[in-house]
Amino acid sequence: MPDIDPAKLAASRAAIELVRDGMRLGLGTGSTASIMVRELAAKVKAEGLSLRCAATSKATAELAESLGLRIETLDQIGWLDLTIDGADEVDSELNLIKGGGGAHLREKIVAMASDRMVVIADPGKVVQQLGAFHLPVEVLAFGFEATQELLRRALDDLGLGGKPVRPRRRGGDLAVTDEGNYILDLALDVIPDAPALARALAAIPGVVEHGLFLGICDMAIIGRADGSTITLG
Ligand code: A5P
Repeated sequence: MPDIDPAKLAASRAAIELVRDGMRLGLGTGSTASIMVRELAAKVKAEGLSLRCAATSKATAELAESLGLRIETLDQIGWLDLTIDGADEVDSELNLIKGGGGAHLREKIVAMASDRMVVIADPGKVVQQLGAFHLPVEVLAFGFEATQELLRRALDDLGLGGKPVRPRRRGGDLAVTDEGNYILDLALDVIPDAPALARALAAIPGVVEHGLFLGICDMAIIGRADGSTITLG
């Protein structure tokens, strides 16, 4: 395993302090969430906890199962007490950009099916205004070109015209999500009105889900390299 980032580890350890025996948990995706899953598996073993866990991606499900955590589907569990996930950006209102790893569709479904969503992150993820990180938009393969055009027109209408809209690639091919869709990454620099952008994206029929998480996160735990944490929310 590569060297563990101490800030991500600190945030992960603080988050799993919230886990209690019998809880129904959502497990996020990404490098920070992977550290959390490892810490969680160790806690479950050490304390003999009984948990029900749903994963936000195939990668997280595989990791969790390899560590001895049993993964069920969200539908088998029904509703979750707590989801712990990473983020690409978090602002002071706990609004997020997610989807750097392309899992934001399942991540949003799982987070919204949870009583509480807690984000774990390093200080580099905390921003004053969302948008420096590219905004991932998951789109259907059907009508992909038309969806891109509709998206460009929507950005024009919002005064964000001319900003790059880049199909995500893996190797030479278009990247395909766990749900078999494509991703368009919007390089916006700043998002002046995130709710307006979220509404405009949701109104495009080929858009499956975007990476703006507005009013979904309940608490963010920001780890620091010295092992301390600060909590937002
Ligand atoms: C996965 O699709 C993302 O939403 C991740 O949660 C986010 O990109 C954070 O990933 P890292 O912890 O690897 O930065």
